[in-house]
Amino acid sequence: MTKANILVSGATGRTGGAAIEQLLNMGKRVRAYVRSDSEKAAALRKRGVEIALGDFTNIDAIRAAMEGIDAAYFLYPIAPGIISAAAFFAQAAKEAGVTNPAGHEGKIYTLHGPVEMNHTEIAAAMSKVLGVKIDYAPASIDAFRQKMEQVYHFPPFLVQHLTEVARNYQAGIFAGTNDNVETITGSPALTVQAFIEKNRGVYA
Ligand SMILES: NC(=O)c1ccc[n+]([C@@H]2O[C@H](COP(=O)([O-])OP(=O)(O)OC[C@H]3O[C@@H](n4cnc5c(N)ncnc54)[C@H](OP(=O)(O)O)[C@@H]3O)[C@@H](O)[C@H]2O)c1
Repeated sequence: MTKANILVSGATGRTGGAAIEQLLNMGKRVRAYVRSDSEKAAALRKRGVEIALGDFTNIDAIRAAMEGIDAAYFLYPIAPGIISAAAFFAQAAKEAGVTNPAGHEGKIYTLHGPVEMNHTEIAAAMSKVLGVKIDYAPASIDAFRQKMEQVYHFPPFLVQHLTEVARNYQAGIFAGTNDNVETITGSPALTVQAFIEKNRGVYA
């Protein structure tokens, strides 16, 4: 069997797991970078995924995981340590000769869908799909932050991150539309309506 040449970190989580799913469906050989040899790692192994053990504080463990790798997916949770983790991952990838796929070298893609919706429009779309009236009730950023701290008990780093995301949203930093998802993946971005339909059970 050929050795894996694609490395996926955050492999036991939602987006890393989805990336692995897609890659396996494409017949690719995948290595997962995981921080413990858990049941989730065992499940990946069963599906033919190679397992490389290590965390993001140890560049030598990342270097070992990068051996023979041509393409790598970096995922770190919204938590302290993200800058050094990104630097270690990039350094190890560079040393291993990992490059962007042909045609994507040096490019940065902003993530938008083909349609831009505000929160009132999203609530209207949810109402239509779910058949119940859902209203968007705007809150001040300060009230949002207090709720995250006192009701949801989110960790401080996440509260800070989401507060800044809200500020950026208000400042229009995320505004825009494009067809990057379809152009790059060949599949159109899921519409808000289709997403709600697909996850209908979550809203029950
Ligand atoms: N831009 C946005 O608006 C936005 C919104 C949502 C998410 N995101 C991005 O998506 C990421 C979350 O993705 P997700 O939903 O796939 O998360 P997830 O399901 O919670 O998975 C997190 C993954 O990271 C691993 N992990 C957790 N803490 C770690 C640590 N200290 N060191 C190394 N690995 C660690 C977990 O491994 P274990 O199984 O070992 O715990 C798991 O594989 C966020 O970090 C953020 O970058 C962005």
